[in-house]
Amino acid sequence: MNLLENLAQSGPLLRGAVGRGHLRVLKSMLGPAFRGLIQQRGRHEPHTQMALGYSAVFDWRYQRTEPQLARLYEAAKVSQWNATKDLDWSISVDPEDPEKPIVPDSFLPLARYPGYQKLGAREKARQRHLVLAWMLSQFLHGEQGALFAACQVTEAVPWLDAKLYGSTQAVDEGRHVETFHRYLTEKLEKLYEINDNLYVIVDALMSDARWDIKFLGMQIMIEGLALGAFCHLRQHTQEPLLRQLLTFVITDEARHVHYGVLALQKFYETELNERERREREDWAFEVSLLLRDRFLAHEFYEEHWAHAMSRAEWDRYMLESETMALFRGTMFKRVVPNLKRIGLLSDRSRPRYAEAGLLQYEHLRAAPELTAKDLLEDR
Ligand SMILES: [Fe+2]
Ligand SMILES: [Fe+2]
Repeated sequence: MNLLENLAQSGPLLRGAVGRGHLRVLKSMLGPAFRGLIQQRGRHEPHTQMALGYSAVFDWRYQRTEPQLARLYEAAKVSQWNATKDLDWSISVDPEDPEKPIVPDSFLPLARYPGYQKLGAREKARQRHLVLAWMLSQFLHGEQGALFAACQVTEAVPWLDAKLYGSTQAVDEGRHVETFHRYLTEKLEKLYEINDNLYVIVDALMSDARWDIKFLGMQIMIEGLALGAFCHLRQHTQEPLLRQLLTFVITDEARHVHYGVLALQKFYETELNERERREREDWAFEVSLLLRDRFLAHEFYEEHWAHAMSRAEWDRYMLESETMALFRGTMFKRVVPNLKRIGLLSDRSRPRYAEAGLLQYEHLRAAPELTAKDLLEDR
C-alpha cells in the first residue's frame, strides 16, 4: 500500500477531501496526518519538535491603524487575572463522589447505553471523572497550541495594533495552560495524551507558513469550538472551582475569537484573491468535519469499553447520541457565524455545510456582537 492510500484509509478527513476535490487542502494536511495518525507522535514522545516555516514582520512605522483592535487591547489589559491568587485552589474536589457527581450522567454520551446503566454507582462515578479528565486534557493540549499560535501570529501579523493585542493573548494562553494543568494534576489526578486528530490540526497550524491559516484554525475554529465546549461544561458542572476557572477562561476566549474575526475579516476582504479565498473556504470546511466527527474519546474507549464493543460501534454510538448532538450544537454555533462573517461561507460552500448539518447556525450572532456575559449565559 502506498503512503497516500495508507493516509487516506487512516483519516476519513483525507478520504473525504479527495472525494470533494479539495486537493490543495489535502496536500497541506498530508504531513500533519502522517505524523499524527501514523506515527502518533503526540503519544510516543515526551517532546515533539515541529518545524515552523513563516516570516516575522517588523513594523518600523508603529502606526495605530486599527481602532477596534486597539479597543480590544485596552480591554485585555484591564481583564488580566492571576490563576494562583484569583482562583480558590483550597476548594477540595472529589471527582468520584457518587453523591455529588462532578458532571451529571446526562453529560456523558454513554448515559443511555445499557452497558453503562448496568454499572454500579462507584464505577459510574469513575467514568464521569475520567470522561471529564479526557476532555480537560484535550483542552490543555489545545491551550498549549493556542499559546504557540498566539506567539507566531503576533510575529507574523502586519498591523501594530494586532501585534499589541497578540501580546496579551500570549499571556492569556500561558495562564490557561497553567490553570488546566493544575486542575488536572491536583484535582482530577489524571492526564490523557493528545487525541491523534487534535494533534493533526495543531501540527497543521504550526507547520503552515501562512499566518492567516494559523489564525483561521486557531482563533476561529479551535478557539470557537473550545469556547462552546467551555460554556457547555460550565453549565453542566456544579463543582465550584471548575466553574470559577471556566468563567475566567471563557472571558479571555471571548476576546480571542473576537480578535480572530476582526483581523481575518480585514485580511480576507483586502488581501486575498478569489482563488486564495476559496482555498481557505475549503480548508475551513474540511477542518469543520474533522472537528465535528473525530473527537470521540478513543483514549477513554480503549481504557473502559474496548472489551465490550468494537471501535466502529463506539463511534456510531457516540456520533448518534443526543448528548453529542447537543454538544456539537453548542460548539458550532460559536464557529459558523464567524466563518460567515470573515467571508468563508459563500453560496459555493453553503450546500456542503447544510449537508453536514452545520448550516443552521449561520444566522446566529458572530463574535463581535457577543459579550462575555452573553457567552456565560449561553445566549
Ligand atoms: Fe485559551
Ligand atoms: Fe484563546
